[in-house]
Amino acid sequence: MAYSKIEVTPYGGAVGAEVGGVDLGELDNETFAEIEQALYENLVLFFHDQDITEDEQVAFAARFGPIGYYPFVEGLRDHPEIVPVLKEAGESLNFGGVWHSDTAYLEKPPMGSVLYAKELPPVGGDTLWSNMYLAYERLSGGMKDVLDGLKAVNSSRKGPAAITREARIEDHGKEDAADYYEAVHPAIRIHPATGKKAIYVNIGHTANFEGMTEEESAPILNYLFEHAIRPEFTCRFKWEVGDVAVWDNRCAQHYAMNDYHGHRRLMHRVTIEGEAPA
Ligand code: SIN
Repeated sequence: MAYSKIEVTPYGGAVGAEVGGVDLGELDNETFAEIEQALYENLVLFFHDQDITEDEQVAFAARFGPIGYYPFVEGLRDHPEIVPVLKEAGESLNFGGVWHSDTAYLEKPPMGSVLYAKELPPVGGDTLWSNMYLAYERLSGGMKDVLDGLKAVNSSRKGPAAITREARIEDHGKEDAADYYEAVHPAIRIHPATGKKAIYVNIGHTANFEGMTEEESAPILNYLFEHAIRPEFTCRFKWEVGDVAVWDNRCAQHYAMNDYHGHRRLMHRVTIEGEAPA
């Protein structure tokens, strides 16, 4: 699509675009409409040099829909909608350091998130995204037929993702959080705005297909976990302080690189409420 209010430059061949000409603290409706369209086309958008307040970050996220919630960790005291995504210099694990689609274990996982870089290591700490439309398109017809009828069980208990949130739960865990969350969603979901099909299983949260054991599900799930993140479906974003990323959680997975040991990294994340995947 042609844009008149924003400049959209593809960031990679498969997913992601940089958006210029925008101050996220001062958006009019027409500019926002173009941003939303660019998000549908590119799945993740990057905005550089943003100097926005907490209120402005929340207001930007709220333009996409009601603010969502993260069940395990408290938000900032003055802005509970903002969850700090933090790795302290002395910690070894990072939050989000496994490929995932955010909180797929909820009945209504978020439609997306807005992530704002506040403090970064001198080098490293990139984030990768992968395009789940493209991953679906590249499956064989036979595999598509098999998956189209399957539902998958997503659980917050899966080990590799669960351990990445432990330190933050220790610091600022929500007292009313359940021990774990589980939700069954279609293995292939249809995006409510674009009508396109996307793979909706991820190694962070998907445990098994409904009606099958983990052992029975594993051969196909493990294939999909690998397939979904093939390098040609991904982009890797190198952050600068002041950068903002917004992604569509319904058709993209992401991964926070953990390669900056001994340094602190702090991001502010706001999630946007989604619908039950269909
Ligand atoms: C997340 O999974 O939301 C965190 C991404 C990041 O810190 O880069």
